[in-house]
Amino acid sequence: MKIFLDTADISEIREAASWGIIDGVTTNPTLVAKTGRKFAEVVRDITAIVDGPISLEATSEDAEGLVAEARVLSAIHKNVVVKIPITTEGLKAIKRCRAERIKTNTTLIFSANQALLAAKAGTNYVSPFIGRLDDQGQVGMDLVRELVTVFFNYEFDCEILVASIRHPIHVLSAAMLGADICTVPFDVLKKMVGHSLTDVGIARFKKDWAKIPK
Ligand code: E4P
Repeated sequence: MKIFLDTADISEIREAASWGIIDGVTTNPTLVAKTGRKFAEVVRDITAIVDGPISLEATSEDAEGLVAEARVLSAIHKNVVVKIPITTEGLKAIKRCRAERIKTNTTLIFSANQALLAAKAGTNYVSPFIGRLDDQGQVGMDLVRELVTVFFNYEFDCEILVASIRHPIHVLSAAMLGADICTVPFDVLKKMVGHSLTDVGIARFKKDWAKIPK
């Protein structure tokens, strides 16, 4: 499974990239706003660190506006993927972006039917928002299970990018189901690396190493 970092924070991206396990980055307006920095500067910095798909979100409500934004965003760097919300206008925009070879990531997916339509329109990635479903009492991972089946049945040229991740179990469950990508906040990524028994083991080996005559 590919791992993307779900953040616009450059220090987080730099650190995670140095671990050698980051395949791409996803952002959204909320994440970019949190940085307090100018959009162009944030994007410039991300593209300089990560050589993989970088999702940037379009916010227009009509297809015309979404496609216009997609052209501008995709012209920034070859790795840019344009996030388009799943609406009827979004579907029209996805189709046109595909024709213009602009890569899209269909966002705010909360049902398998939404993802099915986005895949048919020609999107490159669908982003089911797992944590937000869990937040309202639905089991988000059930949606990933449905998507894996549907996409396997029809061999869509579209990757399942599991988003809105809240904890390491989400990442593990996505991997067990065979999702293509998980986009992970930095704090969750750190939790995935750490284990108290690893810390205890390191301390014990260090102590015993000191006892060995050299
Ligand atoms: C990434 O593509 C999504 O925008 C992000 O994972 C949403 O996460 P949230 O539900 O924690 O805001």
